[in-house]
Amino acid sequence: MTTHEVTLLPGDGIGPEITAATLRVLEATGVRFAWDAQVGGMAAVDARGTPLPDDTLESIRRTRVALKGPLTTPVGGGFRSVNVALRKEFGLYANVRPAYTILPGRFEAVDLVIVRENLEGLYIGVEHFVQVGDDPRAVAESVAIVTRHGCERIIRHAFEHAVRTGRTKVTIAHKANILKMVSGLFLEVGRAVAAEYAGRVEANDLIIDNTAMQMVIRPEQFDVVVTTNMFGDILSDLAAGLVGGLGLAPGANIGATAAIFEPVHGSAPDIAGKGVANPAAQILAAGMMLEHLGELAAARRVREAVRATIVDDGVRTADLGGTAGTAAFGDAVARRLA
Ligand code: NAI
Ligand code: MG
Repeated sequence: MTTHEVTLLPGDGIGPEITAATLRVLEATGVRFAWDAQVGGMAAVDARGTPLPDDTLESIRRTRVALKGPLTTPVGGGFRSVNVALRKEFGLYANVRPAYTILPGRFEAVDLVIVRENLEGLYIGVEHFVQVGDDPRAVAESVAIVTRHGCERIIRHAFEHAVRTGRTKVTIAHKANILKMVSGLFLEVGRAVAAEYAGRVEANDLIIDNTAMQMVIRPEQFDVVVTTNMFGDILSDLAAGLVGGLGLAPGANIGATAAIFEPVHGSAPDIAGKGVANPAAQILAAGMMLEHLGELAAARRVREAVRATIVDDGVRTADLGGTAGTAAFGDAVARRLA
């Protein structure tokens, strides 16, 4: 049996708690891991004086796979977002965020995945103030950079994801009516790639604001949605909200040579250390990692065990209206797997 070497970044705030619960679940799958535990975020600032130590980067360079908890981005002190730095460092161009109904609530059968471009657009943070008269901050300017290569790579990733996972439709979400170049290029490339997949994957395109409304009133129509960085950031939280909130939303950051799996949510300082956070998003992120590592059966079992624990056993954390703590939820999922 293969032993998978994986970099482990438990993260800040609720990170260590949800990571401990996730490791219990992974242990119960029987898949063998050699964890290389590293630090990042505030934990790393405290231990090493920098939010992203070289050892952490070295480890990911070697293992090519990381399971990561949320990292607090220190406010002030000149630190940039560690998450954005990791994406840049390893060229993690695809942010894949599935949202599907576990607990039927407002919607019965949402099952979609947002494929967000992760390296370009407004997110690159090329911005500055312009002084007018004696006001140094009279005008703020930002540059969105979108490349043909970046568009093609992410859109192809979305179509390939559809083919590989048996999904049948890709929606290209854009704002090409207003941003005729920055978003127009994305749409132009999107339509060209879609044509290559004609007959295999259905494709359509929708303007982003309409996409948001459609996703709220009739989310069942979506399968794979591919979009640029900022739109994907917002739309993926919206999608998480449709299916029970951030506690159930996993994500993967994928590049050509490395992949980092993490929950969509942050370090939740308001509930950190209380043992009440929902570890399901982190557990489901670990499930995506199993799939990435080729452990398809274990990935399916983890996904099913989370569903059964919440729905059949009624074991739920506070965010889902229950009383189970973080560790108890993780143990319940692990028992389902045993
Ligand atoms: P957040 O996602 O940490 O929290 C938002 C709300 O959701 C809070 O009320 C929190 O208690 C709740 N929540 C989040 N995860 C939960 C879980 N697993 N179970 C139950 N409730 C949960 O977002 P916020 O407050 O905007 O950010 C806090 C910190 O996290 C910031 O420093 C931010 O930079 C960082 N962050 C890190 C991310 C990452 O590492 N990928 C992503 C988003 C934020
Ligand atoms: Mg976000």
